[in-house]
Amino acid sequence: MLPEDVASELDRVLLTEAEIKDRLRVIARQIEADYAGRDLLLIAVLKGAVMVMADLARELQRSVEVDFMAVSSYGASTHSSGVVRIVKDLDIDLAGRNVLIVEDIIDSGLTLDWLKSNLLSRNPASLEICALLRKPDAAKVDIDAKYVGFEIPNEFVVGYGLDYAERYRNLRSIAVLAPHVYS
Ligand code: XMP
Ligand code: MG
Repeated sequence: MLPEDVASELDRVLLTEAEIKDRLRVIARQIEADYAGRDLLLIAVLKGAVMVMADLARELQRSVEVDFMAVSSYGASTHSSGVVRIVKDLDIDLAGRNVLIVEDIIDSGLTLDWLKSNLLSRNPASLEICALLRKPDAAKVDIDAKYVGFEIPNEFVVGYGLDYAERYRNLRSIAVLAPHVYS
């Protein structure tokens, strides 16, 4: 779906499909260099990170393994509760593996803070974070992410996997939702 298809529900487009693709290409080259000669396991957090995972994994010019985990922190609200629950756990054992968490967005950082300590307790050889978006002004905890696509303003965004009440995930761009949609 294109921004034009839901124009009245969007305030403005923040990042176009082409901008996202270009940035992921740059990040993929960095990941290839950083993990040269080492195995790599990408872990995406469902559902928001599914587009980043699909595009980043395909951009990588090497073989990687992928696994998925689903955590819940939001419901249909636009504010982080900090309460995280595992909805679907990983299939792959992380012990001794080089793990890269692929996330859609670091907002308050509470979800990733919890996820990072959960995954570290499984004894990976290394654990890093790749997030397509980060809202610096929303941070409640400091998250050390090795790869960040874009820093964005502290507004609720949708598209490219990100939803409001399960809608807009299939929007190709990332856009700021019009306030009338959720107020
Ligand atoms: P936190 O605040 O814990 O965010 O870093 C955790 C999850 O909340 C979702 N999130 C958003 N989803 N637009 C969305 O559609 C947003 O602006 C937004 N901010 C946070 C997202 O799933 C993230 O992983
Ligand atoms: Mg998410």
